[in-house]
Amino acid sequence: MAPENVPKILIIDDELPICKNCIKILSGSADEIDYALNGYDALKLLERKPYHVVITDLKMSRMGGMEVLSRIKKNYPDIMVIVITGFASVSSAVEVMKKGAYDYLPKPFTPHELRAVVAQAMNHHKIKMKNKQLMSDQKKFPVLSHQLIGSSPQIKKVVSMIKKVAHTESTVLIHGNSGTGKELVARALHANSTRKDKVFFAVDCGTLTGNLLESELFGHRKGAFTDAHRDKDGIFQIANHGTIFLDEISNISIEVQGKLLRFLDSREFMPVGDTKYRKVDIRLIFATNRELKQMVKDGTFRNDFYYRIAVYPIWIPPLKERKSDILPIAYYFLEQFNRSMGKSISGYDDNAVNRLTGYDWPGNVRQLRNIIERAVILCEGDHISLNNLPHLNDIGDIEKLIEHVPSTSDELKQIKKEVRQKSVHKVEKNFILNALKKNKWNITRAARTTGMQRPNFQNMMKKHGIKLPGK
Ligand SMILES: Nc1ncnc2c1ncn2[C@@H]1O[C@H](COP(=O)(O)OP(=O)(O)OP(=O)(O)O)[C@@H](O)[C@H]1O
Ligand SMILES: [Mg+2]
Repeated sequence: MAPENVPKILIIDDELPICKNCIKILSGSADEIDYALNGYDALKLLERKPYHVVITDLKMSRMGGMEVLSRIKKNYPDIMVIVITGFASVSSAVEVMKKGAYDYLPKPFTPHELRAVVAQAMNHHKIKMKNKQLMSDQKKFPVLSHQLIGSSPQIKKVVSMIKKVAHTESTVLIHGNSGTGKELVARALHANSTRKDKVFFAVDCGTLTGNLLESELFGHRKGAFTDAHRDKDGIFQIANHGTIFLDEISNISIEVQGKLLRFLDSREFMPVGDTKYRKVDIRLIFATNRELKQMVKDGTFRNDFYYRIAVYPIWIPPLKERKSDILPIAYYFLEQFNRSMGKSISGYDDNAVNRLTGYDWPGNVRQLRNIIERAVILCEGDHISLNNLPHLNDIGDIEKLIEHVPSTSDELKQIKKEVRQKSVHKVEKNFILNALKKNKWNITRAARTTGMQRPNFQNMMKKHGIKLPGK
């Protein structure tokens, strides 16, 4: 263990026997335990050694525990302070906790109580330090003006590819599953290019299809089709000198692909119903989550267009293939939501970290962001814990259902029904399993403690296929 990590405790009490007794009780809990008989001496010791935990009496003749606590919190905010006193009262307990004490222990206490509270404080200190480290790591990432957080080799490669191509005029094809950060990469390319002060225009080719997409992109002349009552400029005209991001390129019709190919070769386009070509200065960035090569083989994507746009492909791997990015991104979002919601949650506890890093994130960074946002809203303490996170391994199906956008009211009804059923199913199953586990798999007791009739409890077990272990 590095010297700064060796557990160090300072005991402050004006009665020497109490200090000695605490040292005896805690001798197995820390490698260095010092004591001071008053607040002044304690402050001198604090200047010399980085203590993890301070245990202080409240009533002392020279500088009381409340003053010591205030000074420690001001000058050494990471130290966990435990206040002990023989004058226990609710109001002083509330006051020391408000002043930032980690815990409060009324005298007399048993050796076990003291050891337990010190162990918790040590653990809390460890988590706090780890969180602080991650928080500061994530602040050290001002790589690009649109930050891509993460330090995995995969994300570093993406960042380096962005840096190399951003300032050029080259067309870029971004490839990645839903929520991996394609739009963020496109914005980073624009923000780090010479066009950064001009327009960045994102076009969702998944919702604008066929003729509509063509007239939106290239504009149209009056009378070009039934609803064309006047001339209209297209995005290519409006975004002149800027960057156009064409998202979900796999949805573009073969005809529009041909027109875009012509544009890429000549930088000219023709509005719908016009007879003259127009020249503009536009950089194009494309994105897709589909395998375009396969679409070329299937004949639904033009071969020549594919090769023209795939000059500089950037592949963003799914989050599950770069698990080391999960925590830095989780901390980045925590910081953002802390700021926007006026909170100061300092991090995630060990269990929360395990849940976040153990999950496969089918919805990638977007899903992670949503879950952190929800956790920050729910969290009332200093740390995000399991209570603030959903049971991630169960949410896959429901998340997928929620992500699916219904197109008819019947479909909406159907999805609502399914989401409701699946959620209720999950809650019921967890409820039964939890009751059984808590009652050592005794059905009668589990039913009784939850307030259910035994036959109903058993029916619910059957419904969810829950059997007693070994049966
Ligand atoms: N490496 C990252 N660092 C920080 N934020 C990220 C990162 N990757 C993605 N995000 C954030 O995650 C969210 C989803 O990213 P984005 O919209 O770019 O994904 P996408 O690939 O375009 O998704 P879709 O395919 O669903 O359109 C955004 O809020 C984005 O800012
Ligand atoms: Mg997108």
